[in-house]
Amino acid sequence: MKQLAVVILAAGLGTRMKSKSSKVMHPVAGYPLISYPIVVARGLKPARLIVVHAPDQADLKQYLKSCRISSVVQREARGTADAVQTAGRGLASFSGYVLVLYGDVPLVRTEVIREFISEVGRKGARLGVITMSIDDPRGYGRIIRDPDGELIRIVEDKDATEDEKRIHEVNTGIICAERGWLFDSIKKIGCRNAKGEFYLTDLVSLAVGCGCGTVGWRAAEALDFLGVNTRVDLSVVARIMRERINKRHMLDGVGILDHLHTTVDGSVRIGMDTTIMPYSFLLGQMRVGKDCIIENGVVIRDSVIGDGVHIKAHSVIENSVIADNAVIGPFARIRPGSKVGHNARVGNFVELKKCDLGAYSKANHLSYLGDTTVGRLTNIGCGTITCNYDGRAKHKTVIGEGAFIGSDVQFIAPVRIGRGSVIGAGSTITQDVPANALALSRAEQKIVKGWAKRKRGPY
Ligand code: UD1
Ligand code: MG
Repeated sequence: MKQLAVVILAAGLGTRMKSKSSKVMHPVAGYPLISYPIVVARGLKPARLIVVHAPDQADLKQYLKSCRISSVVQREARGTADAVQTAGRGLASFSGYVLVLYGDVPLVRTEVIREFISEVGRKGARLGVITMSIDDPRGYGRIIRDPDGELIRIVEDKDATEDEKRIHEVNTGIICAERGWLFDSIKKIGCRNAKGEFYLTDLVSLAVGCGCGTVGWRAAEALDFLGVNTRVDLSVVARIMRERINKRHMLDGVGILDHLHTTVDGSVRIGMDTTIMPYSFLLGQMRVGKDCIIENGVVIRDSVIGDGVHIKAHSVIENSVIADNAVIGPFARIRPGSKVGHNARVGNFVELKKCDLGAYSKANHLSYLGDTTVGRLTNIGCGTITCNYDGRAKHKTVIGEGAFIGSDVQFIAPVRIGRGSVIGAGSTITQDVPANALALSRAEQKIVKGWAKRKRGPY
């Protein structure tokens, strides 16, 4: 097998996305579109990998830099042949096959491309093109074959006759060509066509004309080559990606009750016998342990969830760690920098922010715990609030192990509550409380006998 270089084209303007971001930077399953052909390319272990982009794609340039991928700039989007020619500068010393992928075709799979390249190599062809048959061929280049089924040329949609437009076999855009022949031939391509562009697809008639071997390889699965031009396409591709990801998890022993309505980003790891209910989102860099239950409408981002955790409906967790057997929600909000200890409970309408809640501790109802450390086996009563912000800075509240915090308590931070202490309901705590003490700040109850009846009058 000859050496391989991969060129990914991403310099198209993507105007149909109607977005300030580059088209190929729009995310699918947590990663930009362009990352998918990059992963495929890397899987092929190429000698070179070059992405062609436009001058004003700062977001894409930054991303490629972060992935340490070489790129070249196509000054003006003059067509796919011109884009490949631009990449040629970086391939001067290379000899072997050049594979061209598109930055906006994210569902391609390494094994399919590998099969295609082997076929081109086996036939000793100068050029190979992947084709597919689709119900609605509008917009695609049509594949013209002779009666023996051999490739003759590709005609672009805008240049096609009415008869040609009826052909359902189309160009996926992916080609593989021998380097020397490719760059010699590209020079011969002109731009006298409906779009006034340099079409890479003109390579086919050039190869046929010079009697070079040409392979038109029919893809078994057209879905692999769906391109993204609009946000409608983006949502179609995202749905297929979602199904692929969910299927992989289900085959690995994860229960996904409604795989069409469960969103799991590509990098998320999930343990066996975890069950996920519909309309849940597991996003970003995430790990979920085994035997968990994630109920409907849960959103978790960039977090680590231990084993046996139960996250009840409509809870939101970001950048936090939930230890084994904790129970969260329903309707809980765990904000970044929080840690919920094992067997701890965070109930409905409880918000944690930078809060370390100890093992077996409970904050079951209607509380805000921010910049707070809570020891083990502590009870946080309903309506407890840590007043962590004085208008200028944030301050910490530290609550010791085994403390009992009554309902409707406010902690005016910074404040420390000793282990084993009890805070009476309705208290506003402004000073540190020693271990095992009772702190109570509410006014003493007063009873005025008969007052209500007097106020009401004779009735
Ligand atoms: C192209 C093919 C068409 C095929 C279709 C499959 C040509 C002439 N046509 O058409 O036969 O059926 O893809 O999706 O090749 N790009 C550049 N620089 C340019 C122009 C485009 O880098 O100057 C990049 C785009 O970013 C994109 C890819 O090349 O990733 C394809 O360009 P696009 O304009 O989408 O081509 P299509 O009209 O879809
Ligand atoms: Mg396109």
